Amino acid sequence: MTPRKTVTGAALASLLSVAALAHSGATGVVKDRMGAMKEMKEAVKSVAPMMSGTAAYDADAVRRAADTFRRHSGAALTGDFPAGSTEAPSEALPAIWQDWDRFAELAETLGVMAEGLSRAADNGLHGAGGMMDSGTMMGSGSMMGSGMMMGTAGGAMRMSAEQIGQMPADGAFAMTTQVCAACHDRFRKDDA
Ligand code: HEC
Repeated sequence: MTPRKTVTGAALASLLSVAALAHSGATGVVKDRMGAMKEMKEAVKSVAPMMSGTAAYDADAVRRAADTFRRHSGAALTGDFPAGSTEAPSEALPAIWQDWDRFAELAETLGVMAEGLSRAADNGLHGAGGMMDSGTMMGSGSMMGSGMMMGTAGGAMRMSAEQIGQMPADGAFAMTTQVCAACHDRFRKDDA
């Protein structure tokens, strides 16, 4: 178990835990964005077993998941959050509109990650062979370290899609789900 795997696991667990909630009462824009978020959750679930090596790796499936993230990122995501739209059963926090720049930046970053993940799809998994150069980008292995992911996520989030596209697909996927988690931590009510 590398630190990277642990981080990915935690991020996934927190993403998937919301599945338990029933949100059948949602209407309008709240319903729309919940639908978009659920699609992204399904996309995460469709590739997570591949990324941890428990299912056969499928680059096309990774690209499809990346497309789903990209489609729901940026302006598509922020456009589903008109000011003050917190009506029940929404879990959106008012902090979204108090810190809109940060929220919008995370939405943009998701798009960059998704583009990077799509480019990285053919790279396969870390350690699968053929991607041994990936360490040279940030110094051997440092990109994969949990400190980078958790401690200075801002640094990782300023990476370009081209840079992310040089990574093994599981690394790019981990970074993508970090963006989901970062936004939820700050802007979504705790389910607990
Ligand atoms: C820019 C911020 C942001 C990003 C990035 C983001 N989310 Fe969300 N997500 C939210 C907010 C805010 C809510 C709560 C929406 C509501 O309840 O009105 C939410 C809700 C959800 C939900 C619950 C939907 C429901 O039915 O209540 C899931 C699942 C989800 N997100 C998955 C994801 C996944 C997977 C990703 C990454 C691929 C992601 N999100 C990226 C902000 C974000």
